[in-house]
Amino acid sequence: QIKACLFDLDGVLVDTAKYHFIAWRELAEQLGFVFTEQDNERLKGVSRAASLDILLEIGGLTFSEEDKMRFAEQKNNRYVEYISKMDSSEILPGALSFLQECREAGIKVALGSASKNAMAILNNTGLTPYFDAIIDGTHTSAAKPDPEVFLLGAQAVGIAPEHCVVFEDAEAGILAATRAGMRSIGIGSPETLSEADFVVPSLAQVSVSKLGEWFAAV
Ligand code: G6P
Ligand code: MG
Repeated sequence: QIKACLFDLDGVLVDTAKYHFIAWRELAEQLGFVFTEQDNERLKGVSRAASLDILLEIGGLTFSEEDKMRFAEQKNNRYVEYISKMDSSEILPGALSFLQECREAGIKVALGSASKNAMAILNNTGLTPYFDAIIDGTHTSAAKPDPEVFLLGAQAVGIAPEHCVVFEDAEAGILAATRAGMRSIGIGSPETLSEADFVVPSLAQVSVSKLGEWFAAV
């Protein structure tokens, strides 16, 4: 039986990928190279520092740690400007009703995000009250695919990993769920999320009764 749902934030509950993309693309432009939407796929679920390393690798550039810290901060300042204007209209399809349904069914709800901006995003979109526990990039030391973020989430809501299901749009997040001993639902395309137990286009295709069907033996 599924007793807890653990959600990634960016790309699962809210559409922030476009803001990450715009902010990274601006930095790339400033450094003199083109950063495409396809390149951006590689940054999904990846921490800020690791994202910058990938970006610089794409541009074929090397910088000192000091410069890199400055670039990461600059990108984040830009990103924070965008998310400060977010509201509930940017919650992805099906997310709100599924969170509500979990609550009514007594299923614990936790966030497991790599983002250090998660609290601001949850507050601006009005999602904060739906969570029993919030674990984000300010609480973790190891990035996905390390299972830390989801293990901390399960611990915070007091549910054993085998009764948890993780919702993720990034391959690294699905791997983190598997390593945590949890079930996983990929949100996106089956090609990129092949390791997930099930893949759906969005949370609009998920319900508590569906979880019962999919994980009947859990
Ligand atoms: C999520 C996003 C990544 C982002 C990371 C860190 O995992 O999918 O694209 O780089 O969070 O976010 P932050 O807000 O801390 O820069
Ligand atoms: Mg994500």
